[in-house]
Amino acid sequence: MLIRTSIYLIVDDLLTYILAQDCKPDVRLNRWVNNRSGRMRTVIFIALLSIGYAAHAAADTVDERQQQAVALADRFVGQLKPQLKKAMTEGGPTHAIAVCADIAPNIADALSADPDWLVKRVSLKSRNASRAVPDTWERNVLLDFDRRQAAGEAAEQLLYGEVINGQYRYMQAQVVEPLCLVCHGEELADDVQETLQQYYPDDWATGYKLGEVRGAISVSGDL
Ligand code: HEC
Repeated sequence: MLIRTSIYLIVDDLLTYILAQDCKPDVRLNRWVNNRSGRMRTVIFIALLSIGYAAHAAADTVDERQQQAVALADRFVGQLKPQLKKAMTEGGPTHAIAVCADIAPNIADALSADPDWLVKRVSLKSRNASRAVPDTWERNVLLDFDRRQAAGEAAEQLLYGEVINGQYRYMQAQVVEPLCLVCHGEELADDVQETLQQYYPDDWATGYKLGEVRGAISVSGDL
């Protein structure tokens, strides 16, 4: 639409100029300069070009932000999961809880060191009461993830991003796998329950089944 209008305006301006061909160059220029509607068309043309360019640049920024947000979420999982698995093998679940309590917040803080970005994990049933309680936007996205998962979509493929209040916000669901059930499942070993109680007295993050959405990585960055 914008391109069609611009081409029309260029052709129209050229016609105005060509129709003045029989005159001497200075008269031709004078006619063009004195032709109010011709000047107006040029001004509109330049304005439309600038708007088109600005819209294009904004779309670029959103694309860039989206790619960066996805990369940050992937880094979170890529850094935490191997350490969690290692801790489980080395010292069992109670040791892994202690490790996770320490490194998960550290990873989130390190990835949020860039002042442009905030990276966290959120859940409708949070374990870490000071970090994982969702805000309104996150809550709505999590509710939508639950609905989509219940309707048959694979939880590991659920993601959502949008521009809101001058920020690009992105969420990527975390699915409950067999490993997760040890600390988030329906039946926990006594020592796991005790350790969780000790670290997280306000723990809501149990009772999950395989394939459900445990929570999501939430990334937000200014545009
Ligand atoms: C060894 C126990 C353990 C296992 C196994 C485990 N978690 Fe957790 N999970 C925790 C602990 C402890 C926290 C709180 C970490 C913190 O303080 O940030 C947590 C927090 C989370 C959170 C952040 C939201 C919240 O409620 O605080 C998500 C999301 C999460 N776990 C998903 C998973 C997924 C998905 C798996 C399986 C791939 C998994 N966890 C396996 C112990 C575990």
